[in-house]
Amino acid sequence: MTSSTDTLDLCAKSDVAAGDIIKVDKNDLELAVYNVEGEYFVTDDTCTHGPGSLSEGYLDGHIIECDFHGGCFDIRNGEVTAPPCMIPIRIYKIVADDNRVIINLS
Ligand code: FES
Repeated sequence: MTSSTDTLDLCAKSDVAAGDIIKVDKNDLELAVYNVEGEYFVTDDTCTHGPGSLSEGYLDGHIIECDFHGGCFDIRNGEVTAPPCMIPIRIYKIVADDNRVIINLS
C-alpha cells in the first residue's frame, strides 16, 4: 500500500513546457522533470558521469544529452544511449495526477 509519505509532489505540469526540462530541488533530491509532448518523466538531475546537470542538457525525443561531455540517457528507463556515460541514470515513477508531477519514492 502506498501512503503519502512515499510520494513527492514536484511541480505543476504547467511549470514544464512541452519539449522542456526543469530542475527541482526537494527533500535533498536534485531532479530533472521532462515534458515530452505532454508525457512527463523524472530522473536524477546530476549526470552519472560527472557534474553535468541534465536539466541544462539537450532533449531530443526521449533522449537527454548531457551538455558536459555529450553522454546520453533514455529518460524512459534511464539506460545509457551514448558514451562516455556508463552508469544508468535513476528514474522515478510518476503517480497519476491531472495537474501535478508527483513521483513515487518507494
Ligand atoms: S558529466 Fe555528463 S557526460 Fe560527463
